[in-house]
Amino acid sequence: MAKAHQIVVGSTWGIRNIFQSLVAILTTTLVVTAIYLTQEGEHWSHQRNKLNSLSKCNLFSGKWVFDNESYPLYKEQQCTFMSDQLACEKFGRKDLSYQNWRWKPHQCDLPRFNATALLERLRNKRLVFVGDSLNRGQWVSMVCLVESSVPPTLKSIRTIANGSLNIFKAKEYNATIEFYWAPLLVESNSDDPVNHKVAERSVRVQAIEKHARYWTDADIVVFNTFLWWRRRAMNVVWGSFGDPNVVMKRVGMVRVYEMALRTWSDWLEIHINRTKTTLFFVSMSPTHQNCNIKKYRAHEWGGVRGDNCYNEKDQIREEGYWGNGSIPSMMRVVENVIEDLNGRGLKVELLNITQLSEYRKEGHPSIYRKQWEPLTEEQLSNPKSYADCIHWCLPGVPDVWNELLYAYIFHRSLTSDTKN
Ligand SMILES: *[C@@H]1O[C@H](CO)[C@@H](O)[C@H](O)[C@H]1NC(C)=O
Ligand SMILES: *[C@@H]1O[C@H](CO)[C@@H](O)[C@H](O)[C@H]1NC(C)=O
Ligand SMILES: *[C@@H]1O[C@H](CO)[C@@H](O)[C@H](O)[C@H]1NC(C)=O
Ligand SMILES: *[C@@H]1O[C@H](CO)[C@@H](O)[C@H](O)[C@H]1NC(C)=O
Ligand SMILES: *[C@@H]1O[C@H](CO)[C@@H](O)[C@H](O)[C@H]1NC(C)=O
Ligand SMILES: *[C@@H]1O[C@H](CO)[C@@H](O)[C@H](O)[C@H]1NC(C)=O
Ligand SMILES: *[C@@H]1O[C@H](CO)[C@@H](O)[C@H](O)[C@H]1NC(C)=O
Repeated sequence: MAKAHQIVVGSTWGIRNIFQSLVAILTTTLVVTAIYLTQEGEHWSHQRNKLNSLSKCNLFSGKWVFDNESYPLYKEQQCTFMSDQLACEKFGRKDLSYQNWRWKPHQCDLPRFNATALLERLRNKRLVFVGDSLNRGQWVSMVCLVESSVPPTLKSIRTIANGSLNIFKAKEYNATIEFYWAPLLVESNSDDPVNHKVAERSVRVQAIEKHARYWTDADIVVFNTFLWWRRRAMNVVWGSFGDPNVVMKRVGMVRVYEMALRTWSDWLEIHINRTKTTLFFVSMSPTHQNCNIKKYRAHEWGGVRGDNCYNEKDQIREEGYWGNGSIPSMMRVVENVIEDLNGRGLKVELLNITQLSEYRKEGHPSIYRKQWEPLTEEQLSNPKSYADCIHWCLPGVPDVWNELLYAYIFHRSLTSDTKN
């Protein structure tokens, strides 16, 4: 009897507990929703549909749409900190339609880039781009995208760390947008930001701290590295450069890339403060030439064999086009390393810009940029021989990479499960 009674009492308590839990869950849900609604503020109602569709949307699958109403997002001449490497109009390019393209994901629209909102988000914070000249181009683009919203006296640019770290500062916001030169992420004999052309590239594949100390405590870090690895093999050095007792070995491209990215990811796992720092990795930027193996690849998109991006004015229209300059096995390495890190509880978002940039064979500077070295007679008589089909004109393709970054910064719910 007593036992049965106890059981009844017990089950009454059970029901009461469940009821109380339900009330607690409901209350929590309401409070969380209320906080969420308040945070989203006045934009909530008209942004809600957009947000819902964004979180389910693969931002990297879509098409380019001609839009000369909204694009370019800034004028080349008005960007105070434009780079002569990327200022195609200034260096004589006449066909300017490369500035007028909007990226339209199939399933949604990209949110509109709002420089003030981004600067607000970056108040008292550091956004740091780390990588090679393509990442530097994305940094210049980001600076151009926001700087028109900052009055001249309230912005500055300076360079420290022997030229490796470039810092744009919006003083009113105490916000910085920085670029750190580390083309292979790990230490290499190409780490000098100006004099980095070397006959034999050597890499200290296990050493990253010399670079990492400049960005480990940043709030948002955007990495890239690909272009400088594109050679059959590379010298890997154990020990210091210049040490006569150094151990050196040639290692094939994919393997050495993976070794470097493992060093990078191990560093992140140990040193990154997960509550503070948000991490991104920009996938490889396609070239419409091939710098070391084969320079002319126009036949890949149906052009004349022996040509490259020189004189190209249109995009590649073939959906899913993938040139031989973009190496899938290297992309797999990046995916695997990032997936492992995610598995260890550290999130890195992959900004998958490769496919969307593949279409833009007309978006490169070609011959319309500053030449750091004087051209020879022979080059001048054959312009495609010195055309730059690697970097991108600004305004142009990297602005869209930054719009994608912007979408992630503001809508963190865009996680990996929405990528496919
Ligand atoms: C990158 O995007 C393209 C185009 O949507 C897709 O084919 C590819 O699988 C994506 N790669 C990754 C790693 O998400
Ligand atoms: C946009 O392009 C269309 C078609 O080429 C042209 O008619 C129009 O004048 C352009 N508008 C602007 C603002 O440049
Ligand atoms: C841009 O963002 C700022 C700050 O959040 C906001 O006040 C402004 O209305 C936004 N502008 C547009 C055009 O949405
Ligand atoms: C300015 O921003 C930096 C981070 O870039 C931060 O360490 C510093 O505390 C900020 N200064 C103020 C006065 O908030
Ligand atoms: C700058 O370069 C010099 C000479 O190579 C070196 O001694 C110094 O440590 C470097 N400074 C920084 C901050 O990297
Ligand atoms: C990590 O960052 C958060 C937010 O900035 C800060 O409160 C916390 O003290 C940091 N943790 C460590 C171990 O530095
Ligand atoms: C890439 O190279 C392979 C092998 O050389 C070739 O079969 C393929 O057609 C090339 N791709 C393009 C887009 O030309």
